[in-house]
Amino acid sequence: MIAAQAIIDAFQQHYGTLPALIGRAPGRVNLIGEHTDYNEGWVLPVAIDLDAAVAARPRTDRTLQLYAHDLETEATLNLDSISQEVGGWTSYTRGMAALLQEAGYQLKGADLVVMGDVPRASGLSSSAALEVAMGTTLTALSGQTVPGVELAQLSQRTENNWVGVNSGIMDQMISALGKRDHALLIDCRDYSTQAIPIPSNVRIMVCDSKKSRELAHSAYNERRAQCEEAVRLLQSVLPGIRALRDVRPDELEAHADLLPPIILQRARHIVTEDARVLDSVKALRASDLATFGHLMNESHRSLRDDYEVSSKELDTLVEAAQQVPGTYGSRLTGAGFGGCTVSLVVPEAVDRFKERVAAAYRQVVGYEPEIYVCVAADGASAARL
Ligand code: GLA
Repeated sequence: MIAAQAIIDAFQQHYGTLPALIGRAPGRVNLIGEHTDYNEGWVLPVAIDLDAAVAARPRTDRTLQLYAHDLETEATLNLDSISQEVGGWTSYTRGMAALLQEAGYQLKGADLVVMGDVPRASGLSSSAALEVAMGTTLTALSGQTVPGVELAQLSQRTENNWVGVNSGIMDQMISALGKRDHALLIDCRDYSTQAIPIPSNVRIMVCDSKKSRELAHSAYNERRAQCEEAVRLLQSVLPGIRALRDVRPDELEAHADLLPPIILQRARHIVTEDARVLDSVKALRASDLATFGHLMNESHRSLRDDYEVSSKELDTLVEAAQQVPGTYGSRLTGAGFGGCTVSLVVPEAVDRFKERVAAAYRQVVGYEPEIYVCVAADGASAARL
């Protein structure tokens, strides 16, 4: 988490004065429910104690003066003529400012400094953190608060149409609405949420493979299209369905012959993953971590074999983690291909876990992974100074 003093110092150094407020929003790790969000299903992420922070001071004109501390880059934007160009480091700010105004929020010009400690391009949603933090800050400056679901929706539209990544809504929802010491069950059809307490006798380990996700964008879009194709084909026998969320595993198997093998595999991951999320919530509510861990392992197997979004690096991390005594379960988290895995372990196993997983990874892949213990943190907030 970015220390308030660090961003205050950066602001003062850049603008020669103190900021009026700091908005922040966290990255996330998803415990279970992968690739289900864009199929209108369920996900169970936690917000983590790494975040994006934006320090701000209002101006009297319509200018947004933006300084990205980590990139040592600045830009000047005008609230009345925001360019719709897709991509580039200012796209997060341009998207949020344009969409908030379109939704009726009155924004003020501001001097801004952005900092973050969510590692970029590692599958922990640094991009959702930045969108949500920026939305929170720009509205807080004029004394407004955006309801969490609306903030997440505007952030997802920024990601899709300004940043240019066709993601679902999970990352933005958890960044806006995360709750300390809880995982959030999100229904990605109606956006309702339930906070599920995380038992105190478990640790959330995140292992970063440090493998870039080159293939991720095109493969992600291909998976989305395959899921839509499955729905289209199944509608001939299940006319009431709108998304794979509406199909039970037994119904899919009963109509398996309607789908080409690859489409069947993709759909099988989604319908079984939705069932695993709902079962895992029951297990978590009962503090049954053994069952929860088993479901995580099954989720990984399904992502690897049916959805085919794993990689040698992610499989190595997961297999090594699963062998450490004291690990309940382990799986890839996020879109896949590269990025991170998530594992739940007993607190006494943390050191052993780090040593053994790092050693196994080094031996197979040839370099060190980054391993963190993550604490389930609160979602977005703004604080006046
Ligand atoms: C990425 C996307 C999310 C979600 C996951 C896979 O993180 O941003 O919307 O689809 O992949 O579960």
